[in-house]
Amino acid sequence: MVEFVGKIALVTGAGAGIGRAIALRLASGGADVGVFDVDANAAQEVAEAVRDLGRRTCVVIGDVAQREAARAAVAVVAAELGGIDVMVNNAGILRTASFLDVSESDWHSTFATNLDGVFHFSQAVLPGMIERRAGCIINMSSWTGKKGVPNHAAYGATKAAIINLTQSLASEFGVSGIRVNAVCPGIIVDTNMRAEAEEMNRVQNLPDVAARVQSVPLRRAGYPSEIAEVVAFLASDSAAYMTGQAINITGGHWMN
Ligand SMILES: NC(=O)c1ccc[n+]([C@@H]2O[C@H](COP(=O)([O-])OP(=O)(O)OC[C@H]3O[C@@H](n4cnc5c(N)ncnc54)[C@H](O)[C@@H]3O)[C@@H](O)[C@H]2O)c1
Repeated sequence: MVEFVGKIALVTGAGAGIGRAIALRLASGGADVGVFDVDANAAQEVAEAVRDLGRRTCVVIGDVAQREAARAAVAVVAAELGGIDVMVNNAGILRTASFLDVSESDWHSTFATNLDGVFHFSQAVLPGMIERRAGCIINMSSWTGKKGVPNHAAYGATKAAIINLTQSLASEFGVSGIRVNAVCPGIIVDTNMRAEAEEMNRVQNLPDVAARVQSVPLRRAGYPSEIAEVVAFLASDSAAYMTGQAINITGGHWMN
C-alpha cells in the first residue's frame, strides 16, 4: 500500500488506541506523520513505530483544548515535514454519568477536548490547505453523535456537534478543493477509553461490552485497526468524491 507516498499527515491523540492505529496505517501507506498527544511517552513510542516503517515523523506534545498548541503543532509539522495534506482530529475523552450528576468541569472538559480540539486544529490547518487547494480533514465522531444514549450526554453532544461541524467545513471549503469527513465508531475494544468506559459502566451498573455486543449484528466489538482502515480510505484518492459524510463503523449497531 503506497497510496500516501509524498503526503504529510497530522494525527491528534496519536499516542494510543485508535489514533495510534491511524498514525501507523497512514505511515504504512507511505505518509510522513506528525504525532500530537498530551502523553509524551506514548507519543514517542508511536513516533518510533512510524520511523520503523521507514517514514519521517515529528512529535508535538500538547493539549488539543489549547488553541495555541494547535497553531504551534501545525507550524512545527509544516516546518519539519512539510505542508499538511491529511489532518485527523482524533483526540477525545469520555466521561459517563447520569445527566443529573454531570459536573460542570466534566461537561466543559469534554467539550474543550472533543469539540474545541477539532475547531483549533481545523482552523490552524485550513489556511495551508486553501493555499495549496488540496487537503482533507477527518474528524472522530461516534455513533453516540447520531443517537442519544443514557449517561453519555456531554460526550454525545460533542460528537453530534462534530458531525455538524464536519458538514459546515465540507460545505465551506469544498470550493477550495478540501474534503472534510467524519467517522462514527461503535463499540471498540483494545483502547484505554474502552477500558475506562468498562470501569465507569461497572460503577454505574450499566451493561458491559459482552452484554452490549449482543445488540451488534456482527456480535463483536471492533478493533482500532478497523477504524484506521476507513480513515485511510477517506484520506485517499479513492474517496475523492466524498465530503461532508459521517461514516458509521459499528458492526451494524447503528445504521443511520
Ligand atoms: N474506543 C471507543 O469505543 C470509541 C468509540 C467511538 C469513538 N471513539 C473516539 O475515538 C477517539 C480515540 O479514542 P480511543 O478509544 O483511541 O481513546 P484512548 O483514550 O485509548 O486514546 C486517546 C489518546 O488521545 C490522547 N488525548 C486525550 N486527550 C487529549 C488532549 N486533550 N490533547 C491531546 N491528546 C489527548 C490520549 O493521551 C491518548 O493517547 C476519541 O475521539 C473517541 O471519542 C472511541
